[in-house]
Amino acid sequence: MKKILEDVNVKGKKVLVRVDYNVPLDANLNITNDKRIVATIPTIKYLLKENAAIILMSHLGRPKGKFVPEMSLNPVSIRLSELLDKPVKFVDGDCVSKESKQVAASLKPGEIFLLENLRFHPEEEGKNAAGEKDKVAMENFAKEIASMGEIFVQDAFGTVHRAHASTSAVVKYVKDAAAGFLLEKELKFLGETLENPQRPFLAILGGAKVSDKINVIENLLNKVDAIIIGGAMAYTFLKSQGVSTGTSLVENDKLDLASELIKKAKERKIDFLLPVDHIVVNKVDFANKQIPKGAQVEETIDEAISDNFMGVDIGFKSIKKFAEVIKSSKTILWNGPLGIFEIDEFAKGTVAIADLVAQATDDGAISIVGGGDSVSSVKKAGADKRISHISTGGGASLEFLEGKELPGIAALPERS
Ligand code: 3PG
Repeated sequence: MKKILEDVNVKGKKVLVRVDYNVPLDANLNITNDKRIVATIPTIKYLLKENAAIILMSHLGRPKGKFVPEMSLNPVSIRLSELLDKPVKFVDGDCVSKESKQVAASLKPGEIFLLENLRFHPEEEGKNAAGEKDKVAMENFAKEIASMGEIFVQDAFGTVHRAHASTSAVVKYVKDAAAGFLLEKELKFLGETLENPQRPFLAILGGAKVSDKINVIENLLNKVDAIIIGGAMAYTFLKSQGVSTGTSLVENDKLDLASELIKKAKERKIDFLLPVDHIVVNKVDFANKQIPKGAQVEETIDEAISDNFMGVDIGFKSIKKFAEVIKSSKTILWNGPLGIFEIDEFAKGTVAIADLVAQATDDGAISIVGGGDSVSSVKKAGADKRISHISTGGGASLEFLEGKELPGIAALPERS
């Protein structure tokens, strides 16, 4: 087990905390979802209670090693200050400028300083000024940021799948390091709970492509009792079983693989559930996320989809079938929407499943939702507060569920 915040003496120390403040901003640079900022508050409050001087660091977007004013963390410093009702120091433009280093050096216990976007420096992502891979440049940058503090706390679960200066390299250059509360919670649910689940253990996987989820499915086939597949991914699985899928999104080069995964599930006596009916449409405006005028929306009678129609959501019979499995499960992991949930008319299946998962949780099951779109789906269903754990990681949750070692976690010291 990795060292956690409470294992480390942070009293009165200068503590560097890697957070994931990669939050969505609108055209006027307003934060449209502050969940990732809110999720770091417990660690910050603990450090304040311990009278530490807190230096927070994060990336925002992908500025590719250049200063991009629209990707400044300044709006985040303002929001964080509002949430904490406390000043948050911020220096525009450059996280390791002379001014930034001065603020870090003179930071007093109980004060908070948010560094500017780390990715304005190419070294953060292991590159030099010419954009070439450069490990030495990354290590030097890691040393530079490490020199601003004494202890390192990793609380950026959303970024632990990246081997960057501030996520893994930095650990070598500080006196001590540990997982913050946000990371600890993610490790507890995505790690311990899924490793030793209460059974039956059900995984619900949606999203567009089988290819995005192959490794997750393969890894979960060693752990779960049942898998529900929805979203466009389901049509590839159905076609692999000889079912007609009309014009639905199908990855034709993944049909053998889909068949193979179904075979594996059967061999392991895992219930592999695919939709038994669908909502279909003959035209969709994907760019504007709407149903074009005159388009025909229908519900199929079984799993087959006729020519000229594409599947866009699971149908009523599928919801009923999946409901039985969800109700009888004790651990439920959900990743990915079951239809084009951005279009209200095609979000009904996803919203119904979100509600069923929330109901199962009310009845005692442990539910874990990961991935940006699935998180939006439970929110859309108004069920987010009833889920046991909503992961803050998108790509990081997926890589975790694939069973991969994540650099930002691997770099942390073990608990003695
Ligand atoms: C995320 O939003 O998934 C994380 O902040 C990681 O961002 P990245 O994919 O740009 O590394």
